[in-house]
Amino acid sequence: MKKILCSVLLATCMLFSLTACGSSNGSKDAKKADDSSKSGNITVGFSQVGAESDWRTANSTSMKETFSEENGYTLIFDDAQQKQENQIKAIRNFIQQEVDYIVLAPVTETGWDTVLKEAKDAGIPVIIVDRMVKVSDDSLYTAWVGSNFELEGKKAAAWLKAYLDATGRGNEKINIVDIQGTIGASAQIGRTKGLEAACKENKNWTLLAKETGEFTQAKGQEVMESLLKKHGDDIDVVYCENDNEAFGAIDAITAAGKKVGTGKDDILVMSFDSTKTGLTDVKDGKIILDTECNPLHGPRVEEIIKSLEAGKEPDKKQYVDEEVFAAVKDVAKISADGKDYDVTVVTDDVISKRAY
Ligand code: AHR
Repeated sequence: MKKILCSVLLATCMLFSLTACGSSNGSKDAKKADDSSKSGNITVGFSQVGAESDWRTANSTSMKETFSEENGYTLIFDDAQQKQENQIKAIRNFIQQEVDYIVLAPVTETGWDTVLKEAKDAGIPVIIVDRMVKVSDDSLYTAWVGSNFELEGKKAAAWLKAYLDATGRGNEKINIVDIQGTIGASAQIGRTKGLEAACKENKNWTLLAKETGEFTQAKGQEVMESLLKKHGDDIDVVYCENDNEAFGAIDAITAAGKKVGTGKDDILVMSFDSTKTGLTDVKDGKIILDTECNPLHGPRVEEIIKSLEAGKEPDKKQYVDEEVFAAVKDVAKISADGKDYDVTVVTDDVISKRAY
């Protein structure tokens, strides 16, 4: 009965809208009129990469909490399970549903031109969040907010250099393995670049191997197991491109009877993200350095939407400020890209204040 009543109501609304606008695009207008008369909410379609890491979970939570019904939004959330084809499908669905805004957290940088052109042709602004897209025409997206991943890599490498110098190991031969993120993702490209540049600069550093851990704990562990088989006792530093890979690598190292830690004979594990669990491992000395990548993008994306709603033009690119967290006191400050950054030594207080 309820259903019949709703259908009658909907048909009446559609008829009214068609008459009022005299438009040939009747059903489109009717849908919009119906949507806004129902809630007045702004509809946001969010294509999320997946749920590969603790960082990603915190990012999804931030988006869901920000774009809630109470805050005046209707969020259509799509988890792409780390597959670009799923993200493209989701964007096409959002276009069909005539959302007000599309937010995309792209899995990799390339391959977006066609679908973003479809969104542009439909008149739907696209906001890119977290990783970047590489497109032939920048007008295919409205704005981007996220991290400077190459700077993160540079900061991590600068800290390692300063730490080795401070502990009298500056001229020692240092063997490094890189457990990379998802290949082609900005977070992987930037962090790998930062390390590779430092390995070129520091002639006593050797990058023994680089292999993807796909930003997951399971793959991080699997890759570390195979690296230990190949390079055994030679590894001095494991550069994990996120916390979850570091958790997996630490498990593999420990299971192989080796020790992670901050001592001269320990394997030094470096990581990115600085999640609560990551920082707990820093405090316990299992991860020696965790370079922050901040996932709390919900309010930042909302700022962009609010300025668009107010008819203003938001900045095309916005980088988020990020910190550096260490297990040891040896390095107080580092410098990267001509700027100084304080290094925070992790304590219980730092962890308890962490939002994610
Ligand atoms: O793009 C940000 C990266 O993606 C984070 O470092 C990682 O944890 C996530 O999966």
